[in-house]
Amino acid sequence: MKPKKSPSLGLAGRNLVLDTDLSPAEASSLLAVAARIRKQPARYRSALSGRFLALLFEKPSLRTRVTFEVAMKSLGGDSLFLDFRGESIGQREPVADVARNLGRWVHAIAARTFRHSTVEQLAASASIPVINALSDRVHPCQALADMLTLQDVFGRLKGLHLAYVGDGNNVAHSLLLAGSQLGVHVSVATPPSYEPDPEIVSKAQAIGARSGSKIRVLNDPKIAVAGAHAVYTDVWTSMGSEKESEVRRRKFAAFRVTRKLFAEARKDAIFLHCLPAHRGEEVEAEVLESDRSRVLDQAENRLHAQKALLWLLLSGRTPATRSAR
Ligand code: CP
Ligand code: NVA
Repeated sequence: MKPKKSPSLGLAGRNLVLDTDLSPAEASSLLAVAARIRKQPARYRSALSGRFLALLFEKPSLRTRVTFEVAMKSLGGDSLFLDFRGESIGQREPVADVARNLGRWVHAIAARTFRHSTVEQLAASASIPVINALSDRVHPCQALADMLTLQDVFGRLKGLHLAYVGDGNNVAHSLLLAGSQLGVHVSVATPPSYEPDPEIVSKAQAIGARSGSKIRVLNDPKIAVAGAHAVYTDVWTSMGSEKESEVRRRKFAAFRVTRKLFAEARKDAIFLHCLPAHRGEEVEAEVLESDRSRVLDQAENRLHAQKALLWLLLSGRTPATRSAR
Protein backbone atom coordinates (compact mmCIF):
# COMPACT_ATOMS: atom_id res chain seq x y z
CA MET A 1 0.00 0.00 0.00
CA LYS A 2 1.23 3.45 -0.86
CA PRO A 3 1.11 6.51 1.37
CA LYS A 4 -1.56 9.03 0.50
CA LYS A 5 -0.11 10.54 -2.64
CA SER A 6 1.61 13.87 -2.46
CA PRO A 7 0.24 15.64 0.61
CA SER A 8 -2.01 18.50 -0.41
CA LEU A 9 -1.19 20.73 2.55
CA GLY A 10 1.13 22.92 0.53
CA LEU A 11 4.01 22.56 2.94
CA ALA A 12 6.51 21.23 0.38
CA GLY A 13 9.70 23.26 0.43
CA ARG A 14 8.71 25.36 3.45
CA ASN A 15 10.72 26.06 6.63
CA LEU A 16 9.88 25.54 10.27
CA VAL A 17 12.05 28.14 11.99
CA LEU A 18 9.35 29.56 14.27
CA ASP A 19 6.15 27.77 15.32
CA THR A 20 4.12 30.35 13.42
CA ASP A 21 5.74 29.34 10.13
CA LEU A 22 2.83 26.89 10.14
CA SER A 23 -0.66 28.36 10.14
CA PRO A 24 -3.05 27.06 12.82
CA ALA A 25 -4.81 24.96 10.16
CA GLU A 26 -1.49 23.55 8.92
CA ALA A 27 -0.35 22.70 12.46
CA SER A 28 -3.65 20.96 13.11
CA SER A 29 -3.43 18.99 9.85
CA LEU A 30 0.15 18.03 10.63
CA LEU A 31 -1.04 16.47 13.89
CA ALA A 32 -3.66 14.49 11.98
CA VAL A 33 -1.00 13.28 9.52
CA ALA A 34 1.26 12.32 12.44
CA ALA A 35 -1.52 10.21 13.95
CA ARG A 36 -2.13 8.57 10.56
CA ILE A 37 1.55 7.73 10.04
CA ARG A 38 1.74 6.40 13.60
CA LYS A 39 -1.23 4.11 12.91
CA GLN A 40 0.01 2.78 9.57
CA PRO A 41 3.79 3.18 9.48
CA ALA A 42 4.21 0.51 6.81
CA ARG A 43 2.35 2.66 4.27
CA TYR A 44 5.06 5.30 4.54
CA ARG A 45 8.08 2.98 4.42
CA SER A 46 9.41 4.42 1.18
CA ALA A 47 7.68 7.80 1.28
CA LEU A 48 11.00 9.67 1.38
CA SER A 49 13.13 7.21 -0.55
CA GLY A 50 16.29 8.88 -1.86
CA ARG A 51 15.89 11.92 0.41
CA PHE A 52 18.58 13.06 2.82
CA LEU A 53 18.36 15.21 5.93
CA ALA A 54 21.45 16.95 7.35
CA LEU A 55 21.42 17.46 11.12
CA LEU A 56 23.60 20.38 12.22
CA PHE A 57 23.88 20.41 16.01
CA GLU A 58 25.79 22.93 18.12
CA LYS A 59 24.35 21.45 21.34
CA PRO A 60 23.87 17.96 22.80
CA SER A 61 20.71 15.98 22.08
CA LEU A 62 19.21 12.57 22.67
CA ARG A 63 15.55 12.81 21.64
CA THR A 64 15.79 15.28 18.78
CA ARG A 65 18.74 13.61 17.11
CA VAL A 66 17.41 10.06 17.44
CA THR A 67 13.85 10.92 16.38
CA PHE A 68 14.98 12.82 13.28
CA GLU A 69 17.39 10.05 12.28
CA VAL A 70 14.87 7.26 12.89
CA ALA A 71 12.12 9.28 11.17
CA MET A 72 14.18 9.67 7.98
CA LYS A 73 15.27 6.04 7.94
CA SER A 74 11.80 4.68 8.58
CA LEU A 75 10.40 6.82 5.75
CA GLY A 76 12.95 5.29 3.38
CA GLY A 77 15.40 8.20 3.42
CA ASP A 78 18.56 8.79 5.38
CA SER A 79 20.24 11.37 7.58
CA LEU A 80 23.73 12.73 8.21
CA PHE A 81 24.79 14.05 11.59
CA LEU A 82 27.15 17.04 11.34
CA ASP A 83 28.62 17.63 14.75
CA PHE A 84 29.06 21.34 15.47
CA ARG A 85 29.33 20.88 19.23
CA GLY A 86 32.33 22.82 20.44
CA GLU A 87 32.20 25.17 17.46
CA SER A 88 29.52 27.28 15.82
CA ILE A 89 27.99 26.61 12.43
CA GLY A 90 29.41 29.83 11.01
CA GLN A 91 32.91 29.38 12.41
CA ARG A 92 34.73 27.77 9.48
CA GLU A 93 32.75 29.47 6.73
CA PRO A 94 29.72 31.77 6.62
CA VAL A 95 26.40 30.22 7.64
CA ALA A 96 25.02 31.14 4.21
CA ASP A 97 27.78 29.14 2.49
CA VAL A 98 27.05 26.11 4.67
CA ALA A 99 23.37 26.37 3.71
CA ARG A 100 24.05 26.83 0.00
CA ASN A 101 26.45 23.91 -0.17
CA LEU A 102 24.10 21.60 1.69
CA GLY A 103 21.33 22.54 -0.72
CA ARG A 104 23.32 20.86 -3.51
CA TRP A 105 23.57 17.51 -1.71
CA VAL A 106 20.70 17.00 0.67
CA HIS A 107 16.98 17.77 0.75
CA ALA A 108 16.53 19.38 4.18
CA ILE A 109 18.43 20.74 7.15
CA ALA A 110 17.53 20.38 10.83
CA ALA A 111 19.63 22.71 12.98
CA ARG A 112 20.09 22.98 16.75
CA THR A 113 21.83 26.23 17.51
CA PHE A 114 22.68 28.63 20.28
CA ARG A 115 21.57 31.75 18.43
CA HIS A 116 18.15 31.74 16.84
CA SER A 117 19.58 34.02 14.13
CA THR A 118 21.74 31.12 12.92
CA VAL A 119 18.62 29.10 12.01
CA GLU A 120 17.15 32.20 10.38
CA GLN A 121 20.31 32.69 8.32
CA LEU A 122 20.29 29.04 7.24
CA ALA A 123 16.66 29.39 6.16
CA ALA A 124 17.33 32.65 4.32
CA SER A 125 20.16 31.13 2.30
CA ALA A 126 19.19 27.51 1.75
CA SER A 127 17.30 26.32 -1.30
CA ILE A 128 15.90 23.48 0.84
CA PRO A 129 13.63 23.37 3.91
CA VAL A 130 15.23 24.32 7.22
CA ILE A 131 13.81 22.94 10.46
CA ASN A 132 14.56 24.46 13.85
CA ALA A 133 15.65 21.57 16.07
CA LEU A 134 15.88 23.99 19.06
CA SER A 135 17.37 27.43 19.23
CA ASP A 136 17.64 29.78 22.17
CA ARG A 137 14.29 31.26 21.17
CA VAL A 138 11.97 28.34 20.35
CA HIS A 139 11.63 24.55 20.09
CA PRO A 140 8.81 24.09 17.57
CA CYS A 141 9.22 20.33 16.98
CA GLN A 142 8.86 19.77 20.72
CA ALA A 143 5.63 21.78 20.86
CA LEU A 144 4.11 19.81 17.97
CA ALA A 145 4.82 16.55 19.81
CA ASP A 146 3.40 18.05 23.01
CA MET A 147 0.18 19.10 21.27
CA LEU A 148 -0.12 15.60 19.81
CA THR A 149 0.30 14.15 23.31
CA LEU A 150 -2.39 16.43 24.75
CA GLN A 151 -4.72 15.52 21.89
CA ASP A 152 -4.07 11.79 22.43
CA VAL A 153 -4.95 12.03 26.13
CA PHE A 154 -7.93 14.40 26.04
CA GLY A 155 -9.25 13.74 22.53
CA ARG A 156 -9.17 17.46 21.69
CA LEU A 157 -7.03 20.57 22.07
CA LYS A 158 -9.50 23.45 22.03
CA GLY A 159 -10.29 24.67 25.52
CA LEU A 160 -7.64 22.62 27.34
CA HIS A 161 -5.62 24.48 29.96
CA LEU A 162 -1.85 23.95 29.91
CA ALA A 163 0.12 25.37 32.85
CA TYR A 164 3.85 25.81 32.33
CA VAL A 165 5.89 26.37 35.48
CA GLY A 166 9.56 27.40 35.50
CA ASP A 167 11.80 29.26 33.09
CA GLY A 168 10.26 31.44 30.37
CA ASN A 169 12.58 29.82 27.83
CA ASN A 170 12.55 28.38 24.30
CA VAL A 171 10.16 25.56 25.26
CA ALA A 172 7.80 27.99 27.00
CA HIS A 173 7.86 30.22 23.91
CA SER A 174 6.92 27.36 21.59
CA LEU A 175 4.13 26.21 23.90
CA LEU A 176 2.74 29.75 23.93
CA LEU A 177 2.79 29.97 20.13
CA ALA A 178 1.64 26.45 19.28
CA GLY A 179 -0.88 26.38 22.12
CA SER A 180 -2.45 29.68 21.15
CA GLN A 181 -2.67 28.56 17.52
CA LEU A 182 -4.52 25.40 18.48
CA GLY A 183 -6.93 26.91 20.99
CA VAL A 184 -5.15 25.72 24.14
CA HIS A 185 -5.21 28.15 27.08
CA VAL A 186 -1.62 28.60 28.26
CA SER A 187 -0.62 29.92 31.69
CA VAL A 188 3.08 30.47 32.29
CA ALA A 189 4.39 30.99 35.84
CA THR A 190 8.01 32.06 36.28
CA PRO A 191 10.07 33.84 38.92
CA PRO A 192 10.20 37.61 38.36
CA SER A 193 12.56 38.56 35.51
CA TYR A 194 12.46 35.03 34.00
CA GLU A 195 9.18 35.65 32.16
CA PRO A 196 8.86 34.70 28.49
CA ASP A 197 9.80 37.39 25.95
CA PRO A 198 6.97 39.96 25.86
CA GLU A 199 7.10 39.92 22.06
CA ILE A 200 6.26 36.19 22.01
CA VAL A 201 3.58 36.71 24.66
CA SER A 202 1.90 39.49 22.64
CA LYS A 203 2.08 37.35 19.52
CA ALA A 204 0.46 34.43 21.38
CA GLN A 205 -2.23 36.73 22.78
CA ALA A 206 -3.02 38.07 19.31
CA ILE A 207 -3.24 34.54 17.91
CA GLY A 208 -5.28 33.48 20.94
CA ALA A 209 -7.78 36.28 20.35
CA ARG A 210 -8.65 34.49 17.08
CA SER A 211 -8.48 30.88 18.30
CA GLY A 212 -10.17 31.43 21.66
CA SER A 213 -7.04 30.60 23.64
CA LYS A 214 -6.35 32.64 26.79
CA ILE A 215 -2.71 33.44 27.54
CA ARG A 216 -1.52 34.38 31.03
CA VAL A 217 1.93 35.16 32.39
CA LEU A 218 2.17 35.02 36.19
CA ASN A 219 4.68 34.81 39.01
CA ASP A 220 2.53 32.49 41.12
CA PRO A 221 2.75 28.79 40.20
CA LYS A 222 -0.30 27.84 42.29
CA ILE A 223 -2.57 30.24 40.41
CA ALA A 224 -1.18 29.06 37.07
CA VAL A 225 -1.74 25.37 37.84
CA ALA A 226 -5.24 25.71 39.38
CA GLY A 227 -7.65 23.58 37.35
CA ALA A 228 -5.12 22.82 34.59
CA HIS A 229 -5.40 19.77 32.33
CA ALA A 230 -1.62 19.55 32.05
CA VAL A 231 1.30 20.81 34.12
CA TYR A 232 4.51 21.24 32.15
CA THR A 233 8.01 22.12 33.25
CA ASP A 234 11.51 22.24 31.77
CA VAL A 235 15.02 22.53 33.18
CA TRP A 236 15.76 25.71 35.12
CA THR A 237 19.05 26.16 33.27
CA SER A 238 19.01 25.68 29.52
CA MET A 239 22.00 24.56 27.48
CA GLY A 240 24.43 27.43 27.18
CA SER A 241 23.46 29.13 30.48
CA GLU A 242 25.26 26.69 32.78
CA LYS A 243 27.16 29.39 34.62
CA GLU A 244 23.84 30.74 35.94
CA SER A 245 22.72 27.41 37.37
CA GLU A 246 23.56 28.15 41.03
CA VAL A 247 21.67 31.44 41.02
CA ARG A 248 18.78 29.87 39.15
CA ARG A 249 18.52 26.99 41.63
CA ARG A 250 17.89 29.56 44.35
CA LYS A 251 15.52 31.76 42.37
CA PHE A 252 13.43 28.90 41.00
CA ALA A 253 13.08 26.95 44.27
CA ALA A 254 9.39 27.88 44.64
CA PHE A 255 8.71 26.80 41.04
CA ARG A 256 9.39 23.07 41.46
CA VAL A 257 6.53 20.82 40.36
CA THR A 258 5.89 19.00 43.62
CA ARG A 259 3.05 16.59 44.41
CA LYS A 260 1.47 19.46 46.36
CA LEU A 261 1.60 21.86 43.43
CA PHE A 262 0.44 19.18 40.96
CA ALA A 263 -2.58 18.50 43.22
CA GLU A 264 -3.84 22.02 42.38
CA ALA A 265 -4.47 20.85 38.80
CA ARG A 266 -7.50 18.80 37.71
CA LYS A 267 -7.84 15.27 39.07
CA ASP A 268 -7.18 13.85 35.59
CA ALA A 269 -4.32 16.26 34.88
CA ILE A 270 -1.17 14.96 33.22
CA PHE A 271 2.44 15.94 33.83
CA LEU A 272 4.59 16.91 30.85
CA HIS A 273 8.32 17.64 30.48
CA CYS A 274 10.33 17.91 27.28
CA LEU A 275 13.25 16.11 28.98
CA PRO A 276 16.02 15.81 30.01
CA ALA A 277 14.64 16.16 33.56
CA HIS A 278 16.47 16.97 36.77
CA ARG A 279 14.70 15.14 39.58
CA GLY A 280 14.55 17.21 42.75
CA GLU A 281 15.09 20.46 40.82
CA GLU A 282 12.27 21.49 38.50
CA VAL A 283 10.23 18.36 39.29
CA GLU A 284 9.91 15.91 42.17
CA ALA A 285 10.81 12.36 41.19
CA GLU A 286 7.40 11.19 42.44
CA VAL A 287 5.61 13.44 39.93
CA LEU A 288 7.91 12.56 37.04
CA GLU A 289 7.50 8.83 37.72
CA SER A 290 3.78 8.94 38.60
CA ASP A 291 1.06 7.32 36.54
CA ARG A 292 -0.04 10.82 35.48
CA SER A 293 3.30 11.50 33.83
CA ARG A 294 3.22 11.38 30.02
CA VAL A 295 6.84 12.34 29.40
CA LEU A 296 7.71 9.19 27.48
CA ASP A 297 4.63 9.57 25.29
CA GLN A 298 5.86 13.07 24.50
CA ALA A 299 9.28 11.69 23.61
CA GLU A 300 7.70 9.02 21.40
CA ASN A 301 5.49 11.61 19.72
CA ARG A 302 8.59 13.56 18.69
CA LEU A 303 9.13 10.72 16.23
CA HIS A 304 5.59 10.72 14.83
CA ALA A 305 5.27 14.50 14.62
CA GLN A 306 8.63 14.82 12.87
CA LYS A 307 7.80 12.01 10.44
CA ALA A 308 4.71 14.00 9.46
CA LEU A 309 6.72 17.21 9.22
CA LEU A 310 9.43 15.64 7.06
CA TRP A 311 6.90 13.97 4.79
CA LEU A 312 4.96 17.19 4.34
CA LEU A 313 8.06 19.29 3.69
CA LEU A 314 9.88 16.79 1.49
CA SER A 315 7.59 14.51 -0.43
CA GLY A 316 7.29 15.50 -4.04
CA ARG A 317 10.50 17.54 -3.77
CA THR A 318 12.84 17.29 -6.72
CA PRO A 319 16.43 16.32 -5.93
CA ALA A 320 18.51 19.27 -4.81
CA THR A 321 21.23 18.93 -7.42
CA ARG A 322 21.51 21.52 -10.17
CA SER A 323 21.34 18.93 -12.95
CA ALA A 324 17.89 17.87 -11.76
CA ARG A 325 16.44 21.38 -11.47
N1 CP B 1 13.44 17.39 24.33
C1 CP B 1 14.56 17.45 23.62
O1 CP B 1 14.70 18.24 22.69
O2 CP B 1 15.50 16.54 23.99
P1 CP B 1 16.99 16.49 23.46
O3 CP B 1 17.71 17.71 23.98
O4 CP B 1 17.55 15.22 24.03
O5 CP B 1 16.98 16.46 21.96
N1 NVA C 1 15.19 24.58 27.49
C1 NVA C 1 16.04 23.43 27.29
C2 NVA C 1 15.34 22.44 26.41
C3 NVA C 1 16.08 21.16 26.16
C4 NVA C 1 15.34 20.22 25.29
C5 NVA C 1 17.35 23.88 26.66
O1 NVA C 1 17.34 24.75 25.79
O2 NVA C 1 18.39 23.37 27.07
